Amino acid sequence: RILILDFGSQFTQLIARRVRESGVYSEIWPFNTDPQKIADYAPRGIILSGGPASVTEEVSPRVPEIVFEMGVPVLGICYGQQAMCAQLGGLVEGHDHREFGRAYVEVTDSCALFDGIDDAWTIGAREQVWMSHGDRVTKIPPGFRPVGTSDGSPFAAIADDERRFYGVQFHLEVAHTPHGAAIIRNFTHGVAGCTGDWTMASFRQTQIDTIRKQVGSGRVICGLSGGVDSAVAAALIHEAIGDQLTCIFVDHGLLRENEADQVVELFRGRFNIKLIHRDASDMFLGALEGVDDPEKKRKTIGKLFIDVFEEEAAKLGGADFLAQGTLYPDVIESVSFTGGPSVTIKSHHNVGGLPDRMRMKLVEPLRELFKDEVRLLGLELGLPHSMVGRHPFPGPGLAIRIPGAISKEKLALLRRADTIFLEELRNNNLYDAIWQAFAVLLPVRSVGVMGDGRTYDLACALRAVTSTDGMTADVYPFEVSFLTRVASRIVNEVRGINRVTYDITSKPPGTIEWE
Ligand code: XMP
Repeated sequence: RILILDFGSQFTQLIARRVRESGVYSEIWPFNTDPQKIADYAPRGIILSGGPASVTEEVSPRVPEIVFEMGVPVLGICYGQQAMCAQLGGLVEGHDHREFGRAYVEVTDSCALFDGIDDAWTIGAREQVWMSHGDRVTKIPPGFRPVGTSDGSPFAAIADDERRFYGVQFHLEVAHTPHGAAIIRNFTHGVAGCTGDWTMASFRQTQIDTIRKQVGSGRVICGLSGGVDSAVAAALIHEAIGDQLTCIFVDHGLLRENEADQVVELFRGRFNIKLIHRDASDMFLGALEGVDDPEKKRKTIGKLFIDVFEEEAAKLGGADFLAQGTLYPDVIESVSFTGGPSVTIKSHHNVGGLPDRMRMKLVEPLRELFKDEVRLLGLELGLPHSMVGRHPFPGPGLAIRIPGAISKEKLALLRRADTIFLEELRNNNLYDAIWQAFAVLLPVRSVGVMGDGRTYDLACALRAVTSTDGMTADVYPFEVSFLTRVASRIVNEVRGINRVTYDITSKPPGTIEWE
């Protein structure tokens, strides 16, 4: 396994992803982790991430000395390279010429990191990379030799073959560095000697053993939401302990069309998992009556959800463990340099609110996985592509896609419009290219004309964004003909909606959901 020490770069998670894609398990720890803990972890290699700080400042993050004393290979990326150089006797200086975006590195010498990458990264080659830095290394420490240069960085890539320390100024973890993944693979396999046997098939096996050991003969309950994470967690746990698992599906009536039936059919029908389907839609609709404030909607739904879940759990006579689909990004300790409180934009409700109240031991078999690894694991477990490839869906469901107070009638209109949009996306092979796509029912009436008649109906907005983590998002650039086809289908097929708009706001400044 490989340890990644995080200096706060926005790309750190991508490093872990690339390492794992090379078949090697990796974890991300803060740079200031206790040195003894790092030594005890005994990784095969250590990668130092980039970060926003400057080593030229007096107080800036340092690499724990133990990293250089363990005898394991080290790869420093951007800030990681600079910090390594500064600490091992080199020099880093600020520069008014920031290098940002696409750049080219000229390979000046051979290096284990560049071995066997098709015909690329050979001596004299000019290779595209992604740069994002102000400071640069101006003198390399003793023992190192330069192996690549760029316009902005005389030491864009350096190597100390003896100690197996390497540094690159560019970000090899991002897609804009075309051979970055191959370079990382050279580090994990060639330099650090990992075998690359970490796959979803092996993960499935080890997790099954772990779950069996943890749970023993205890009973586990798992909340199903219709989303990917809880579905994969449930399928995995069921494979490990069979009928010791009971799933509780609190149906708040705010799901998309047919979604509740699909969940029941899949888990009860196909997987033979014990499943309690509690249709609580009337309760939720009642509690939400007249509630138009987004945060109040979330709080109402979140609280009621826990009440109903607890009620069902109590009917079962309780359980020893609560299963959760917690993912790795929720677990990684973040490194922050800004200090100060951050503003709550939205208080997210999901099943994650459960454990505090329920005081049960947790089973979290996906704690080590990124989202796309969860999807692969789901496929491995036999879940259908239509389930594991699903777009993220917010805990409060359609309630936050109807600005203002919701009603049964509005939910029905939104479901129809949303289904048409998603159907068209699937039929045109666009669904998988998009992070999230949905319709929003607007609290706006407008005048229209259909046939010879006047209409005065509601409007709906379509939203489709690309994103890697939901933190930032870009609008999906549909062909206008696609949008007009969807609009015309919605207006023709959904009585009650007579106008369709496309939301072209990115995040920031917009958010993905409207509420
Ligand atoms: P925003 O709207 O904040 O959304 O840009 C970012 C991601 O989070 C999802 N989202 C939620 N998920 N409970 C959830 O479980 C919520 O209350 C909630 N609000 C937003 C949103 O769908 C997107 O994927």
